[in-house]
Amino acid sequence: MRILLVGHTGTIGQIVCRGLLNSQDEIITASRTSGDYRIDITKPKIISSLFEKVGKVDSIVVTTGVVDMSVLSELTPEKNSVSLENKVAGQTNIALIGQHYLMPGGSITLTTGVIHDEFIKGGVSASMANGAITSFVEAASYELEDGKRINAVSAYPLKNSWGNYAPYFRGFLPVDSDFVYAQYEKSIYGIMTGHIFKAYH
Ligand SMILES: NC(=O)c1ccc[n+]([C@@H]2O[C@H](COP(=O)([O-])OP(=O)(O)OC[C@H]3O[C@@H](n4cnc5c(N)ncnc54)[C@H](OP(=O)(O)O)[C@@H]3O)[C@@H](O)[C@H]2O)c1
Repeated sequence: MRILLVGHTGTIGQIVCRGLLNSQDEIITASRTSGDYRIDITKPKIISSLFEKVGKVDSIVVTTGVVDMSVLSELTPEKNSVSLENKVAGQTNIALIGQHYLMPGGSITLTTGVIHDEFIKGGVSASMANGAITSFVEAASYELEDGKRINAVSAYPLKNSWGNYAPYFRGFLPVDSDFVYAQYEKSIYGIMTGHIFKAYH
């Protein structure tokens, strides 16, 4: 299989990249600053040009998406637009353009997060972004053709990220990398579509 991984240098991206490199598959990496290709997920023209260079793939995995974590009283339209333009538009841009470069039976895997289901202080904008990705995945799965699939992985904060996330996520038990990777593996190699694989219990 040819698998395009966008965001391979991030906390989740590194975990997915490490896991996939243990497979027999060809892994093509892309991020803003390194990898086989440079990409900016907020720029559709750059995404199209990347897919033109990469060609057809069997799987597209996106593990990037910046969100704003302001408390509601300090959340402005400008700050909120970071989540909309980066995480929502960025991930869906890849799916919208990437569907045309996906082999029949191929899959797209996006990344969302638990604060679609459980809410935290400062998480309004991120919850909105995660909810949008969830609905996009569920709806798009009905329209994808040629057996193509689309899913998302939703994680609790990872143990690797706990230093940054702990103040926001009181009461959450951070999850192991292996458990998170397993959800991506299910999405990439499994048969389900329109599904949110939850990396939490
Ligand atoms: N970490 C967690 O515990 C956790 C838990 C649940 C959900 N999530 C969600 O998972 C996603 C990834 O989180 P993370 O913690 O792994 O992020 P991260 O460590 O900040 O990594 C971000 C990755 O995205 C790339 N990137 C950033 N902006 C980009 C752009 N405009 N175009 C292309 N690539 C870009 C970065 O590339 P460069 O290095 O080249 O800049 C890097 O590879 C986020 O949406 C986050 O909300 C994270």
